[in-house]
Amino acid sequence: MATATAEALSDAARAFVSGGPHRLLIGPDWTEAADGRTFETIDPATGEPICDVAHAGPEDVDRAVRAATAAFEGKWGTMPAAGRSILMNKLADLIEEHAGELAEIESLDNGKPVKMAARVDLPGAIDHLRYYAGWPTKIEGETIPVSWPNVFVYTRKEPVGVCGQIIPWNFPLLMAAWKIAPALAAGCTVVLKPAEQTPLSAIRLGQLIQEAGFPEGVVNVITGDGETGAALVDHPGVQKVAFTGSTAVGREIGAKAGRMLKRVTLELGGKSANIILPDADIEKAIKGSFQGIYFNTGQACDAGSRLFVHRDQFDDVVSGLAARAEKARVGPGLDPETQFGPLVSQEQFERVMSYIRSGEEEGAERVVGGNGDGLFVRPTLFTGVRDDMRIAREEIFGPVLVAMPYDDLEEVARRANASEYGLAAGVWTRDVGNAHRLAAMLKAGSIYVNVWGPSDPAAPFGGYKASGIGREMGHANLDAYLEVKTVWTGLG
Ligand code: NAI
Ligand code: MG
Repeated sequence: MATATAEALSDAARAFVSGGPHRLLIGPDWTEAADGRTFETIDPATGEPICDVAHAGPEDVDRAVRAATAAFEGKWGTMPAAGRSILMNKLADLIEEHAGELAEIESLDNGKPVKMAARVDLPGAIDHLRYYAGWPTKIEGETIPVSWPNVFVYTRKEPVGVCGQIIPWNFPLLMAAWKIAPALAAGCTVVLKPAEQTPLSAIRLGQLIQEAGFPEGVVNVITGDGETGAALVDHPGVQKVAFTGSTAVGREIGAKAGRMLKRVTLELGGKSANIILPDADIEKAIKGSFQGIYFNTGQACDAGSRLFVHRDQFDDVVSGLAARAEKARVGPGLDPETQFGPLVSQEQFERVMSYIRSGEEEGAERVVGGNGDGLFVRPTLFTGVRDDMRIAREEIFGPVLVAMPYDDLEEVARRANASEYGLAAGVWTRDVGNAHRLAAMLKAGSIYVNVWGPSDPAAPFGGYKASGIGREMGHANLDAYLEVKTVWTGLG
């Protein structure tokens, strides 16, 4: 462990990070990759390596899927529903007990402000496990009144089986919780593959899963890159794939799942439209829109990255946003004063900077931000943007906002919907009628009215169009881990 910001770690977090080697959790064991490969995880605040992590290859994926299959057919499969609830609650308690340490690990590995990890990522992960811990005892089939004489028909809801779950780097522990909680509630077993940029919190989670007393093989954690993920998707022993990440990889996984007829849910990219109507509380709209795009340094799938402001308020809103952007405290995540951390990786930094350059080349005006130093990019705002520019169409996944004026409601709804994506959309207004007219017109999985980006495990979340298939959270996501079996009985 050789980083400057790691000096700021507590003893518990430091003990974990430097207590490697960080291996793969397969069945009961922490093992090296079969071919001995490892990779470095990097501290984005300094660009320095944090530690080495095992790099799982196809052989390791196969071992993990076998372990998950054995658990599904063994102890986990026969455990009463209430037993699953108890273990999930125990895991939530352990995460809560270690929340401070986990927030630091997340901040070190991802770059996000440690305060934000403690306030958003950790409570979100804990709440998610507790919400789904309530479900196992409430998964019920139905009796069906068929029109046949002398038959009894009922349905059973059964877990789909072994699930391959592939998650991104922007909310590493929270995404792990979003994935494992519904799967475990349904009675499935899991092979979890965290992102190569941020493997550490998933490894710590694996340790806590063991400590909670889950039978071996119920959750396996295999660190690695896209090839590891692809091997997991391809494995014939995986019945369901759940993926959060880029639309490009999501398309590939969806196509493979289609060919193999695997169950699949995909939570992908976005270019979410945020609309400020003329009667909005402008101060509130500016504050909410600022957080809506720059939160997590813009690395959020539902970032409000296309801002539409009525022409009458356009200049006021732009100057309000620019004033906030100029004051933003950008710095290392482990510094308690930091509001926005670095981008997660060199690759992501270059992607974001290339979008900023493309905006300038296409003739948009950069009002504020744009400068990069290390992996840090300050909140950036463009005006003079046309709907067909790349910065107005493509997901940037960084702290870059495009602001565009509009004149009327029908026009703005049409422009907001003219996107391949449909994850979220926002409306700022005091007019209830317009709020709900737009809520019905906008083609997106979540509509935020006078607020941006709240989330709760009970409320479904997911995308229209190229933003994904299926929903996370709520009973919608539980159903994605269940098969319906219909049982016919002749009564003689
Ligand atoms: P990515 O989609 O390549 O990676 C996400 C996860 O998928 C990682 O665990 C990765 O190892 C895995 N993966 C990569 N290729 C795979 C494959 N062929 N088969 C199976 N698994 C695979 O995303 P990346 O490259 O980290 O970021 C690229 C862009 O994706 C970002 O700029 C952003 O636009 C978008 N993104 C969206 C996220 C969201 O929350 N919807 C999260 C992360 C990235
Ligand atoms: Mg990639």
